[in-house]
Amino acid sequence: MELMTMTKTKYTHLVCSKSGDIYDKKQLHTFSRQNKPLLACYDTNKTFDRAILKGRPHNMWRYREMLPIENEDNIVTLGEGMTPLISMPNIGSNFSFASLHLKDEAYNPTGSFKARGLAMAVSKAQEMGVQKCVIPTAGNAGGAMSAYCAKAGIEAFVFMPRETPKAFLRECEFYGAKVELVDGNIKDCAKRIAGMAREDWFDVSTLKEPFRLEGKKTMGYEIAEQMSWEVPDVIVYPTGGGTGLIGIWKAFEEMEQLGWTSAKRPRMVAIQTEACYPIVNAFRTGHNYAEPFINPAFTVANGLRVPVAFGDELILSILKASQGEAVAVTEKEMMKGIEEVAQTEGILLSPEGAAVWQGAKKLRKKNWIKANEKVVLLNTGSLYKYMENF
Ligand SMILES: Cc1ncc(COP(=O)(O)O)c(C=O)c1O
Repeated sequence: MELMTMTKTKYTHLVCSKSGDIYDKKQLHTFSRQNKPLLACYDTNKTFDRAILKGRPHNMWRYREMLPIENEDNIVTLGEGMTPLISMPNIGSNFSFASLHLKDEAYNPTGSFKARGLAMAVSKAQEMGVQKCVIPTAGNAGGAMSAYCAKAGIEAFVFMPRETPKAFLRECEFYGAKVELVDGNIKDCAKRIAGMAREDWFDVSTLKEPFRLEGKKTMGYEIAEQMSWEVPDVIVYPTGGGTGLIGIWKAFEEMEQLGWTSAKRPRMVAIQTEACYPIVNAFRTGHNYAEPFINPAFTVANGLRVPVAFGDELILSILKASQGEAVAVTEKEMMKGIEEVAQTEGILLSPEGAAVWQGAKKLRKKNWIKANEKVVLLNTGSLYKYMENF
């Protein structure tokens, strides 16, 4: 993979997202003493012009200065990022969206946006000398971690709900990861890992280490660059742990500080399913934290069966600050959404992407999204791995 030479990160330190306490970047950190996510901070002086991007490779490492890897030799890459931003004029006009775009993350290595976060987390793990990584996963993140660990020569341990479609399990095994199937959901997988109390592995649970977020934020940088640095009006995102939503928002904050985009921010929308909607519940009731969702039902959108989001407060504060929304959709709606987009645009959405489309439609119908607004939907994964669910 082609990378740049002679570039240096502007990463300076980590900060607790709750207390503002500073953490030294030279140590390997997980989350803060307040039990909250740590955020990577950068020196964003405006002399750093976006013109530097010209001619750089078309992958997420083109934003190299705003990513936390110190030494380029530690970057573990399979070419992730710079997924297409596809215009959807057919279905757009059917449902009166004048400007409807899909950021199609199925184009990433391992077939999902999880490649971005895990490329970053594994690169940093490599930089810090980690030899074993462990992850609780709904499927996509496990496959991505296994692939990047394989490339880095790091041992991979994956804990996955037993109900996860087999393609996700076999993929991890092909990459050489050790996989344990757990009865229950992703929260039960996390519990199982905690219960094993092993100190020789590094837990890359989302937001429980600071760097998956840094990988996922590159979706925000790319959306802006692909829209010629115009900020869209609305971004609609399928929210499980919410890392992508938080990352995209962080990107827009950083880009404003860099002088790359205006102060305008997109209205952020979190989509969940009727099977498991802790964030929608909290948003509706005006809470700044989310209660754990009790007994989440089965959903074809495996990635959205997340009853507890470690970054709940961040997600809710972003929805509020951006004057956003939170919407839940049904299983039937997701199924219909897959067919609608496939038959009009020739694009196969993952169940999570179909949830996003149906959520956007609901908001358009209510006129919360106006006909002339620029709307970006995220399709976070590839339907192929989920076929067993249908
Ligand atoms: C395809 C897909 N979409 C969305 C999500 C939720 O992502 P996040 O944790 O960033 O909210 C997942 C998580 O597993 C996923 O696999």
